[in-house]
Amino acid sequence: MKVLSVVGARPQLVKLAPIAAAFAGTPHQHVIVHTGQHYDADLSDVFFDGLGIPAPDVHLGVGSGSHGVQTGAVLAAMDKVLEDERPDWVLVYGDTNSTVAGALSAVKMHLPVAHLEAGLRSFNRRMPEEHNRVLTDHCADLLLAPTEEAMRHLADEGLADRSRLAGDVMVDICLRIRDAVKAGEHPAPALPEGIDPAAPFLLATLHRPDNTDDPERLSAILASLAALPVPVALLAHPRLVARAEEHGIKLQQGNLHVGRPLPYAGLVAAVLASAGVVTDSGGLQKEAFLLGRACSTVRPETEWVETLEGGWNVLVPDPQDLPAAEWAALATRPAPDAPRGTPYGEGTAAVRVVQLMEEALRG
Ligand code: UD1
Repeated sequence: MKVLSVVGARPQLVKLAPIAAAFAGTPHQHVIVHTGQHYDADLSDVFFDGLGIPAPDVHLGVGSGSHGVQTGAVLAAMDKVLEDERPDWVLVYGDTNSTVAGALSAVKMHLPVAHLEAGLRSFNRRMPEEHNRVLTDHCADLLLAPTEEAMRHLADEGLADRSRLAGDVMVDICLRIRDAVKAGEHPAPALPEGIDPAAPFLLATLHRPDNTDDPERLSAILASLAALPVPVALLAHPRLVARAEEHGIKLQQGNLHVGRPLPYAGLVAAVLASAGVVTDSGGLQKEAFLLGRACSTVRPETEWVETLEGGWNVLVPDPQDLPAAEWAALATRPAPDAPRGTPYGEGTAAVRVVQLMEEALRG
């Protein structure tokens, strides 16, 4: 079996790591195509090096652009790659512009498409990721769902026949790296200046267009982070840095301490060292849950609804709407006692993904 993975953005590289490792233990051929959606070393190269992912076989180098330009550039570049490689499966990951472009290019070439992390829904059509998920699911041949909830969404959309419960490959990588961090196999993470890892601090990230692109909203969210009673380590995504600069908004203020994005093991170590997490990232909500830290999510909804059980994750659409003391108490709340269970599987999803692709190919 020849499988061609299309990746391009940071969260896809995290998911690629366990998949590449699972393929490495089989006779199958695994070809990696990097679209180049993320090109900063912090968002791309450090994930290949740090997670032991083989270097991409093909790099499309599409870079940034409007949604149409970025998606179109991947589409245009994929024809030749798929013509040359003729894989048995094109495997696409998650919900970025690289995902929908990879899926569509394969469909146009009559090549079977498998979608990893299928069936996630926010039901918020303002999110570019929501369009990407729905379109990708409806054009894919094999839908690899991470959760029962995702399986239900797919069934509701008439896609049950093509859907399989695979579990979540992010558990595979998160638990593996957690154990390595605890065993002292990784250096201490480069936290922002002013953060003492031995004292309580919160870990924060912010990158969703809905939070970063409107200057008033961005200023208000940053002010509510800066006013928290504990130091906040803000790992700033390039989109956040770019928008803040564009609008003349200072990131470093009050209790906010700004640093660069971390490699994956550094992020896991930082979550473990933190007293809790504040984020708008889908991946980090789940990593906080898996690593046993309370998370406050600056969004009106989440695709990862299982994290809300028992108060592990709480949605805070507008922190500035809460009285300051209430926001402070929420963001700094301790990890709950409630059992978390294993709604995302046991950390064996990648091997199951390979099996499901073998089975589906046999028909
Ligand atoms: C993308 C995904 C999002 C995912 C996120 C993880 C889409 C629609 N969105 O959002 O689902 O959660 O990745 O990070 O695909 N930039 C750089 N250097 C880079 C990459 C981007 O400076 O290496 C800048 C771009 O110039 C642009 C901004 O960051 O201004 C946004 O990048 P883009 O890849 O379009 O979307 P993300 O916000 O990263």
